[in-house]
This record gives sequence, C-alpha cells and structure tokens, in this order.
Amino acid sequence: MNNLDNIINFINKVPKAELHLHIEGSLEPELMFKLSKRNKVEIPFKSVEEIKSAYNFKNLDSFLKIYYEGSNVLITEEDFFDLTWEYILRCKNDNIVHTEIFFDPQSHTERGIEFDVVINGINKALKKANSDFGITSKIIMCFLRHLDEDPCFEVLNQALKHKDKIIGVGLDSSEKGNPPQKFKKLFETAIQEGFLTVAHAGEEGPPEYIWDSLNLLKVKRIDHGVQCLRDDKLVETLKQKNIPLTVCPLSNIKLCVFEKLENHNLKKMLDKGLRVMVNSDDPAYFGGYLNKNLIETSKALNLNMVDVRVLIENSFKSSFLDENSKNNWLGKI
Ligand code: ADE
Ligand code: ZN
Repeated sequence: MNNLDNIINFINKVPKAELHLHIEGSLEPELMFKLSKRNKVEIPFKSVEEIKSAYNFKNLDSFLKIYYEGSNVLITEEDFFDLTWEYILRCKNDNIVHTEIFFDPQSHTERGIEFDVVINGINKALKKANSDFGITSKIIMCFLRHLDEDPCFEVLNQALKHKDKIIGVGLDSSEKGNPPQKFKKLFETAIQEGFLTVAHAGEEGPPEYIWDSLNLLKVKRIDHGVQCLRDDKLVETLKQKNIPLTVCPLSNIKLCVFEKLENHNLKKMLDKGLRVMVNSDDPAYFGGYLNKNLIETSKALNLNMVDVRVLIENSFKSSFLDENSKNNWLGKI
C-alpha cells in the first residue's frame, strides 16, 4: 500500500469528532424534495437534479440565500428528527463517534415554527444516536448575525428551559459588516446563564473579528478562522491560548474563500502549531461529509500521516467532552 492509501485507510477507520456542522446544512436535496411534498411547501425547484445544479455559490451570502430557502421545508418535530437522523447515519458511515451540532433557531421561529419543535426533534434523534450507535453529541444554538441583537435575547430566553440539551451559543450567517461587538451584551448574558460561547470569525471577515470574538464574546473556539494568518500577533495569541479553529476546507472552496483546495492554508496553520481540525460545515451543499473533507484535503495539500493524526487528535481535544472521554478517544487514535 502506498502512503496515500495508508492515509485514506486511516481516515476511514479512525474514530473522529466533528465540531462544526450546521444541522440545516445537512439537508440533502432528496430530503428537501420529500419534505416540500410532505408539508406542501413550495421550493423554487422542480427536481432533485435542479436543486443540485443551483448549488454554485460565489461567496457566503449567495450560499446563505439558498440555505435559508431550503430550511423552509422544515416544519414539524418529525422533520427535524428526520433531518438529524440522516446526518447521524452519515456519522455512522464516517466513523464519527462524537459530534457538536449547530442549529439556527431564528431561521425557523421567524417562519412561525416553535422553538420547542426544533430542539425536541433534533434532540430525539441525538438520543437515539446514542442508544443505537453509542454516538455522543452536544448542541450549540447559533444567533443569526445579520439580525439585530435585541430579538436575540428572546431566543436566548427560549433556550433557558433547554439548558439540559444546549451546551453553548454561537454566531453565524453573513459575516462582513456584522462584527462581534454587535452581540457583546447578548454573549455576556449567555455566559452568565452558563452557556459556553463560540463564533464564526475570519471566514470572509478580517482578523479583527477574530480578536473581537476572543476579547468581547469570550469564545472557547473560533469557527473557520482561516483569515488569522493575515495577522502575526493574532497567530501568536491563538497559539499561546490554544484556541481551536474549526476549519472547513470544502466549504471554503465552494464559497470561494480560496480558489482551489491546493491553495487552502490549512497546512500552513498546522505547521504554525495552531489547533486546527477539519469539519464539514454544510455538507449537503458543499459536496462532502467529514471523511471526504479529510481525504480531499490530504490529497490536495500533501498531508502526511502525522498531520492527519494531529487533525483528528485536535478534534477531540477541542471538543466540549469531559476530560475522561477525551482521553479515552485520544487513546484509540
Ligand atoms: N451558516 C451556515 N453555514 C455557514 C457558514 N459557513 N458561515 C456562516 N454562517 C453559516
Ligand atoms: Zn459554519
């Protein structure tokens, strides 16, 4: 077996954690089509093929428009269960043993869907994942940063009675022009309520958004963070503080953050000693789940076995699992 075959074999077999996955972004065209019929919700596509051919994005905003339209087919608790269960079957297939899932309550409550319908559907599928397959999980609730801070407090309020299910809050959606400081008070309140915090930063936005996520939002992880290499002092700080960066290579190519995978800066980040790992972000829209992200990136960037092992180890080290569980999985890599 040559070296690449060894690496692919390792990726397929090793237990992995995923830390950056939007559950709405795992809505495959087939399920979107099925739910649009089941719920009699119109979508602007006549077939699964037409949906797939619409997935050509020029930046984050052009993707988000289609992503929010797709989410409109999700109405009932059963829909959120089915959506999550399909993702769990992908986890099983990719040997993901632990996953930390984002959901966007505001893209549902704004359409009149109850917060409880969304969280209960997701949570039931995650409980079944644990009892059927032993897969563990955490749920992170994201605020949509293109909206104002005020209405987010209402969402936070709704989350309080689900503290047993939601471990933390995050910040996603359109990054440029929606800086972290817009949500400083919201995140302070969330922390007081006992939620951990994370934020998308430095996906398209400048290094300052990463600084402000650390300093103002007190985040434990930065989602994406690939723009950090534009600021040496920031790189030093991220390294010193061991801040995880949840990088999503296929997403970055689909959204034109890098022109091609060969140009991605993941290997540079690894070589600088940053705590990076690979994730799939919105796999139904970006062409691949976790193993495909790892395999394609390994090929394009010529990663060696040590690089891949570090990426997988970082996924567990950076998770919100307890120390015992982390060490247990780290011992199996
Ligand atoms: N919501 C879903 N995917 C996202 C991404 N890649 N960036 C920001 N918000 C998102
Ligand atoms: Zn994301």
